Amino acid sequence: MANGKGGVGKTSTAANAAGKAARSGLKTLIIDLNAQGNIARELGYKKAEWNDGGAALSQALKDGTPLVPREGVRPNLDVAIGGPELGDKFLIHFHTLIATEGPQVYLRLLMCLLPIVHQYQIVIIDSPPENPSLQRLGLCASRWLVIPVKSDGGAEDGLAQIGGEFAYVRWTSNLNPHVELLGVLLFDTGRTFTGIHKDVRRQVRLVLGEGAHMFESIVGHTEKVARIVRQRGLLISELKDQRLAGDKSIPEAVESVFTDYEGFTEEMFLRALQLRKEAEPA
Ligand SMILES: Nc1ncnc2c1ncn2[C@@H]1O[C@H](COP(=O)(O)OP(=O)(O)OP(=O)(O)O)[C@@H](O)[C@H]1O
Ligand SMILES: [Mg+2]
Repeated sequence: MANGKGGVGKTSTAANAAGKAARSGLKTLIIDLNAQGNIARELGYKKAEWNDGGAALSQALKDGTPLVPREGVRPNLDVAIGGPELGDKFLIHFHTLIATEGPQVYLRLLMCLLPIVHQYQIVIIDSPPENPSLQRLGLCASRWLVIPVKSDGGAEDGLAQIGGEFAYVRWTSNLNPHVELLGVLLFDTGRTFTGIHKDVRRQVRLVLGEGAHMFESIVGHTEKVARIVRQRGLLISELKDQRLAGDKSIPEAVESVFTDYEGFTEEMFLRALQLRKEAEPA
């Protein structure tokens, strides 16, 4: 999940898509590449004593050693924890490595992931805005790029930025010739504002090209629900279950957000499967 712009739904989408995969029985890993470490807020482990603020992840990236994710954050869901340890000090070290070893250092996350990836069926990487180094690490370890966008204007800059990083990784440097744009997701938008949706879709294609796929599914705007997610550290599906169990402090709108994420996640995985099939030799 990546976009050069902040606050467009990368983390919310990463957490809830991973949550659905895990609930469906798929062994799932989230890699939180953010110095903000907001996956911790989505999954409610911000204050847990085992939240190392990204120390293990940054150490693995520096040394090129296997990732050691926190296991069982939910059933079937492990997390390579992010946080302030991926901040400026890490980046200075990382840039020194690039200066001495060259751009293949952007393959470090892939290198740390490969020894453990057989344990997982789905790996979702949440990446930070406006941070080319961390974005490149993520893009070099990915098969698919998903870009969430908001309809509040100014989408072009963020799209152009991540489009540039994608082009660097895929073509300019050829570091990861396998990464492809899976699609763009409209996030936090009025469900009935179809005129606006059309306009954003047009804008996306202007920046990323006519071939850029837009997911049919959207994630609708529901501020009340979004606030409760981070207050309680629960996924949308978990909030929905709590409401069903009688907790009426959770707004009814949780149902529609739940439906949105279900629809989007299914569409995203189906498209990945379909594209993978098409790419197979006949
Ligand atoms: N359905 C929704 N409706 C309205 N607001 C939402 C919704 N879902 C999430 N939000 C809020 O939108 C904000 C941005 O979401 P999120 O953190 O997922 O974006 P991000 O792209 O990861 O941001 P950053 O670039 O800071 O990492 C958060 O404050 C979140 O609580
Ligand atoms: Mg985020």
